[in-house]
Amino acid sequence: MERDDDRYQAGMRVRRSVLGDAHVDRAEARKTPLDTDFQRFITEGAWGSVWTRPGLDRPTRSLLTLAILASLGHWEEFAMHVRASRHTGARARDHRRGAFPRRRLCRSARGQPRLRHSQGGAGRGRCPFLHACEEYRGAMIIDSPEALTGAVLEVMQRTPDPRLREIMTSLVRHVHGFVREVRLTEDEFREAAAILNEIGGLSTDNHNEMVLMAGSLGVSSLVCLLNNGGDGAAETSQNLLGPFWRKGSPRVENGGSIVRSDTPGPAIVVTFTVVDQQAQPVTGADVDIWHSSPIGLYENQDPGQADMNLRGSFTTDASGRIWFRSVKPAGYPIPADGVVGRLLKAQGRHPHRPAHIHALVYRVGYKTLTSQVYSDDDEHLESDAQFGVTRALTGRFKRHDEPHPEHGDVAAPWYSLEHTFVLEPGEARLPKPPIK
Ligand SMILES: [Fe+2]
Repeated sequence: MERDDDRYQAGMRVRRSVLGDAHVDRAEARKTPLDTDFQRFITEGAWGSVWTRPGLDRPTRSLLTLAILASLGHWEEFAMHVRASRHTGARARDHRRGAFPRRRLCRSARGQPRLRHSQGGAGRGRCPFLHACEEYRGAMIIDSPEALTGAVLEVMQRTPDPRLREIMTSLVRHVHGFVREVRLTEDEFREAAAILNEIGGLSTDNHNEMVLMAGSLGVSSLVCLLNNGGDGAAETSQNLLGPFWRKGSPRVENGGSIVRSDTPGPAIVVTFTVVDQQAQPVTGADVDIWHSSPIGLYENQDPGQADMNLRGSFTTDASGRIWFRSVKPAGYPIPADGVVGRLLKAQGRHPHRPAHIHALVYRVGYKTLTSQVYSDDDEHLESDAQFGVTRALTGRFKRHDEPHPEHGDVAAPWYSLEHTFVLEPGEARLPKPPIK
């Protein structure tokens, strides 16, 4: 045991002299109960025995270590020993004569050996240690598309915030992969930059071309589905907020009407039920409702409608329900006079969204629900320009050709809609209203 302790102490001295105190201190600080014994074994066995054994000088041992690690493909350890070679006395000259006679090596400005990557064309004479050599990566002298991606990723990986690091590293990997896959031309790249500038220029307080584009590419729906329903594992009532929610909708009692000015079109009687994930009613939830008119216009788009027409704020009763009267909404085209419109046209896509009724459900103790219930009789139900229609939110807009049994003023045909929203646990937080 005493002998092992001696070997450990001797190994630790060699390890520190070769790898440097800073490296060893970091490694020691990162030790866990799981690898403590292994760290001791390595310090005793590798550093305390092999590296202290007489016969080979330290530069030679350093070169042999590099050769073994390279042949085994252990690039992280290889990079570590390249850095360590500044302590072992292994010089570029020794590298050339020793472990890597066919590889071209050079000296960094500090006189330390490093692998030369700038010689030779693709596939011929390029150093295979490109991604292992930190000194090279730090220098960022680019000699190939692969080296460029590696250098950018290396910079991204130095981002201090872990989440930002994860996002930026993945973004670079995918964007570089995309450029490679489509072989983006210089003209196309310039056009793409101009399009992004145009999208920014088209966005105002009342219009967000970027959000419109995200919806048109299915990104908004993907983010929604991945972040709800048990992180995408189950159906969810969550859906897109859309651009037309206004804060401060007038309060309406259950059973009341949200038609505030003459709005021709068939009547609809709506009942929404709000439950939790155990199917228990959620009482006292605030529910904002808004939808377009029977000609597909929200009141803020249509001078013919009264302020706050087809909007109302309700509270769920003891059964978790709200109910109200309105007129049947129609689908509508998304704004198609900008970049998104040009894209849709170029792809032969129509700009329409199927008819829907929006709901925003707020109750402390639950994640605030933004939802839309889509009309199952709409011709665009299966081709929504914004990819928002889900099976869970396809509503049964039932047509009735007989008089309404209770409301004598409801002429046939009229429609009814009953739908249930499921709240998920989470933070009750109102979104920022897209418009005033
Ligand atoms: Fe809408």
